[in-house]
Amino acid sequence: MCNSSRNKESAKKRIEELRKEIRHHDYLYYVLNKPEISDAEYDRLMMELKKLEEQHPELITPDSPTQRVGAAPLEEFGTVRHTRPMLSLDTATDEEDIRRFDERIRKELNVEHVEYTAEPKLDGLSVELIYENGRFVRGSTRGDGLNGEDVTENIKTIRAVPLVLRSSELKTPTLLAVRGEVIMSISDFEELNKQLIQKNEQPLANPRNAAAGSLRRLDPSETAQRPLDIFFYEIMTVQGVKVESQWEALQCLKKWGLKTNPFTERCNGLDDIIRYHKKMLKIREKLEYEIDGVVIKVDRLDLQEKLGVKARSPRWAIAYKFPSRKEETQVMDIMAQVGRTGTLTPVALLKPVDVGGVTVSRATLHNQDFIDQMDVRIGDIVKVGRAGDVIPEVTEVIKSRRTGREKKYHLPSTCPVCGSKVIKDGAFYRCTGGLSCVAQLKRSIAHYASKAAMDIEGLGRKNVDLLVDNGLLKSVSDIYRLKKEDLIKLPRFAEKSADNLINAIEKSKEKNLARFVYALGIPNVGEHIAKILVDKFKSLENLMSASKEDLEQIYEIGPEIADSVTQFFKQKRNKEEIEKMKKMGVKATTEIVEKRKAGILNGKTFVFTGTLKDFSRDEAKKLVEELGGRTMSTVSKNTDYLVVGEKPGSKYEKAKKLGITIINEKKFKELTRKTR
Ligand code: IVH
Repeated sequence: MCNSSRNKESAKKRIEELRKEIRHHDYLYYVLNKPEISDAEYDRLMMELKKLEEQHPELITPDSPTQRVGAAPLEEFGTVRHTRPMLSLDTATDEEDIRRFDERIRKELNVEHVEYTAEPKLDGLSVELIYENGRFVRGSTRGDGLNGEDVTENIKTIRAVPLVLRSSELKTPTLLAVRGEVIMSISDFEELNKQLIQKNEQPLANPRNAAAGSLRRLDPSETAQRPLDIFFYEIMTVQGVKVESQWEALQCLKKWGLKTNPFTERCNGLDDIIRYHKKMLKIREKLEYEIDGVVIKVDRLDLQEKLGVKARSPRWAIAYKFPSRKEETQVMDIMAQVGRTGTLTPVALLKPVDVGGVTVSRATLHNQDFIDQMDVRIGDIVKVGRAGDVIPEVTEVIKSRRTGREKKYHLPSTCPVCGSKVIKDGAFYRCTGGLSCVAQLKRSIAHYASKAAMDIEGLGRKNVDLLVDNGLLKSVSDIYRLKKEDLIKLPRFAEKSADNLINAIEKSKEKNLARFVYALGIPNVGEHIAKILVDKFKSLENLMSASKEDLEQIYEIGPEIADSVTQFFKQKRNKEEIEKMKKMGVKATTEIVEKRKAGILNGKTFVFTGTLKDFSRDEAKKLVEELGGRTMSTVSKNTDYLVVGEKPGSKYEKAKKLGITIINEKKFKELTRKTR
């Protein structure tokens, strides 16, 4: 061996040693919170590694501790399809709710007693991490539950995330998809806000927003500077290791060096859950990070499977929330705010008060019924509550503190903005001015331009107000008539910002149809429903001519949404607006739908029962999902195929009853092969 290759050999050996050592100290420090060496010693190890890697760049690997930061900034995040849908949770707010939950579970499982795993409900941002053969390869945000944003490089900067799983206590899984919550501690959040204020930047509302905003920086080096942390709580997919319960799953995660929450407990039945909830409510005040409740999960995975999932939440778990934090203050006035669809929302203007670290000066009073039931009056001393980033609300009126000078309030009979007549519509009062009401017009335009809709940067609330007040926008479609010359004359615009806005407007013409449908602001049609509608109808023309019956046939679409959609497209003004926008170049393309169609199982829902010979359950599910299909654990009328293996369970009978197509493993193979 020549000198230089001997040199390289020994460098390689030392590099491996250093990486191993650094990983171990990262684990001790960031996961166990029990460092064994000083910062200076740690830095020395890191410096030595960096130097060796500089001398031998060919030996750098992506999982080296030196590679956490350094990826180039992105233009935008790519999308990642989750290995399984990332579900959310139903909530329980009191003992009665949780008693019903336990009762339902016991009834469905036909048992006297159920064991649960109970965990703190962390108030952060949910992410999925993928490890292949023990190496971190991808990380994504929850997104819409099916697809998330690819934040791999940003996740790598979180020091509590191991780039390589530990293998000393448990064998390494060939594939692991794990879900966790990215959080920021309260003290780090406060420190960050101090810095932002110093730099004259907008402070963040709460630790959760801070965590989300920090993780979603396009430049990973910025994320690296934000003190993010993570706890893992769910194995979404695992291959090569067998896991039978949630408790066991958490033990496995721990052994692989993935940080789990230390306050997790096993609960034996209802009383134990209630005890745990009470205990955590006390501990909450002492924690360094925010939790907004506890999560109760049926422990055994086979029982979870038996209970199955609903549209977007499992039947085997529930979030048992804490009461929101409350503070006392005074109602100085009440005003009516006019929303996008004309709804008048009464808002209490409060003497500013600090609620759990956030200054609150307005709180929603929801509607007139709420005011009447609570008997809230101007001048009252009230309690206001805040839960997560939900708008603060008045939760209690302290009537014993009344002086007699308090004044009752009723929503006006004419719109405070446009003067049109206000009518009562169920529990709500609505301005009848439509888009001739400036308030509704402004809100509609801002919604159209918002990030999740047509994403026109520079057309936020303030600029919309300015453009409407100056007569440049009289309808949503007027956005496409804006000219640079007109903008420049306005106080908030200069050469560059005017150019930017015009460019952003041009770019919006290329946005896809699902965004456009959401942007139209059809009542009851949020992002999720807009996607479903586009998936089903494929084109705007089809959607516009769909009947109420056509719409109601779709899973997840009930009579209320169907009614909203047909009503919306019936209105002449709406049809004209859409026509104008199309003429001015809005494409509202269906590209995304077509791309997803590439997977030939797209839109098809599979359920499995019994054991397959050549696939594990996870492998079979993955295959379906890779080909664009969905898998569910229970049979319903929306199931397209039930795949039957050996010893099928009760799903078989149910599928027969519902007339679902039942196929065996051979057929399943044919189906997936044919489509590959
Ligand atoms: S389990 C199917 N466990 O709470 C399992 N979620 O809607 C679904 N969360 O989006 C999640 N702590 O981001 C689970 N220990 C915990 C959690 C937790 C926080 C979040 C999660 C989810 C939301 C509930």
